[in-house]
Amino acid sequence: MKVTVVGAGAVGASCAEYIAIKNFASEVVLLDIKEGFAEGKAMDLMQTASLNGFDTKITGSTNDYSKTAGSDICVITSGIPRKPGMTREELIGINAGIVKTVSSSLIEHSPNTIIIVVSNPMDTMTYLVHKTTGLPKNKIIGMGGALDSARFKYRLAEALGAPISDVDGMVIGGHSDKGMVPLTAHATRNSVKVSEFLSEERLNQVKEDTKVGGATLTKLLGTSAWYAPGAAVSGLVQAIACDLQKMYPCSALLEGEYGLNDLCIGVPVILGKNGIEKIVEINLSDAEKAHLAESAEGVKKTNGLLEL
Ligand SMILES: NC(=O)c1ccc[n+]([C@@H]2O[C@H](COP(=O)([O-])OP(=O)(O)OC[C@H]3O[C@@H](n4cnc5c(N)ncnc54)[C@H](O)[C@@H]3O)[C@@H](O)[C@H]2O)c1
Repeated sequence: MKVTVVGAGAVGASCAEYIAIKNFASEVVLLDIKEGFAEGKAMDLMQTASLNGFDTKITGSTNDYSKTAGSDICVITSGIPRKPGMTREELIGINAGIVKTVSSSLIEHSPNTIIIVVSNPMDTMTYLVHKTTGLPKNKIIGMGGALDSARFKYRLAEALGAPISDVDGMVIGGHSDKGMVPLTAHATRNSVKVSEFLSEERLNQVKEDTKVGGATLTKLLGTSAWYAPGAAVSGLVQAIACDLQKMYPCSALLEGEYGLNDLCIGVPVILGKNGIEKIVEINLSDAEKAHLAESAEGVKKTNGLLEL
């Protein structure tokens, strides 16, 4: 199992670290355009191997894609992150060019790979990878919902005064402050609906805190977060590498599912050795359906800015 992570910055390095610590991949290649940067991060991470007890080999490369040849899974984290006050959509100008070049280079050396897109605006970048590579739709996966759901569970546990392991919940829709659709009506504490414990007002607060989860951290950190994004990507990589058939909300190309077409947006999917094994259509309330449709409009508007 060979995994390439493009972008050895905050999210890329964190993702490589979590993949290595989970010890399921034989090799992780970190690639970055900044001279020596990926090699340095790879060496630093390899020096944690004896301390953290993993055998995954991590190597670095300065923009040499021949080192990524034969990768089973490639993760794209290259591009600029947002600064406080920015939206993810504002990153499109710079990141679209980077994601387009990177995905073409990856495919040249690993034509059968599965690609996980992380760079923002993520749903639009995932759509761009479809248009650029022509890979089958099961092989292109956008990571956003797994992170947003983890943030949702964090906020639910906080509101409930419960351990996070007691809580389950999912966020679908676009990976943007306005576009996220936290499914509060489906969220549970040990199979009991959270609405039995929390008022509608408190649940609405959880929803709003979840939607601005990334912006809250960007304000505190001065740049976007990396631990939870890295952990979320490593979960997706492991589900594919180990054929776990695990359900995550991911950005997938829709062709009629949820009444939506010709865009990538977060929906529940089953992840296994083929990437997206299945898109799962769950029953949504009228309000959730309306929110998802509005979210899709937002994603399509951003897609319209792409020069395809
Ligand atoms: N989808 C999500 O849930 C999610 C979560 C967090 C961050 N992000 C996004 O991930 C991206 C990376 O964030 P970060 O905090 O790691 O940023 P960062 O600046 O720390 O790292 C980005 C890295 O990409 C490299 N890079 C730039 N152009 C490149 C190219 N053409 N080829 C190879 N490498 C290149 C840079 O040198 C840098 O090291 C941002 O777009 C951010 O918005 C997405």
